[in-house]
Amino acid sequence: MSKTEEIFDKAKNEIQNLWNNNNELSNFVKFPDNLIFKNIKSKRAPVTNKLFNWREKLNTNHTDLHLAISDLSPYVNWEQGYEEKEVGKDFLSKYGFFELIGPTGHYETSEMALYVNFLDQNAYYPWHNHEAEELYFIVSGKAKFECKDQNIEILSSTKTRLHKSFQPHAITTIENQVLSFVIWKNKFENVSKMIKG
Ligand SMILES: [Fe+2]
Repeated sequence: MSKTEEIFDKAKNEIQNLWNNNNELSNFVKFPDNLIFKNIKSKRAPVTNKLFNWREKLNTNHTDLHLAISDLSPYVNWEQGYEEKEVGKDFLSKYGFFELIGPTGHYETSEMALYVNFLDQNAYYPWHNHEAEELYFIVSGKAKFECKDQNIEILSSTKTRLHKSFQPHAITTIENQVLSFVIWKNKFENVSKMIKG
């Protein structure tokens, strides 16, 4: 196993461990047992170094998991998902994600998708939706979650939030950055779209 693959393997094992100990995650979707590691080229985003360097003030119940994900940051295929004309320059300087597990992820499976999502402090992720049912799991940091027909909630480490198919949602950070897992099941091939206000 190469050095890089060892870093991926460590993160995957931490996530599998989390799944084994968390009913909200395991009841949402079974952790795939047929993951195939793919050699996908890394691509940077404006937040790559921010996640890599986030090793203090973690505000987390999952330190080992957080650090394993931070270690991955330079080696993953960072994406942003939206165009500047949709979400603005400021948002794109504070937001990025990578598909760690999924149909086009570093670990390939057709059973689910797990995106690692980083949102910097003082950021606003505008209202958007998608066909896939989605579970957010907060690894570290803190953010305000809004969604249609549901109470506003401030979420921190270990908390989850379910978004139903096409249920609009928005996320805001203030003094904290936030690292989360975004888990999709059913129809995860259809991408997220901003909602025109
Ligand atoms: Fe979403």
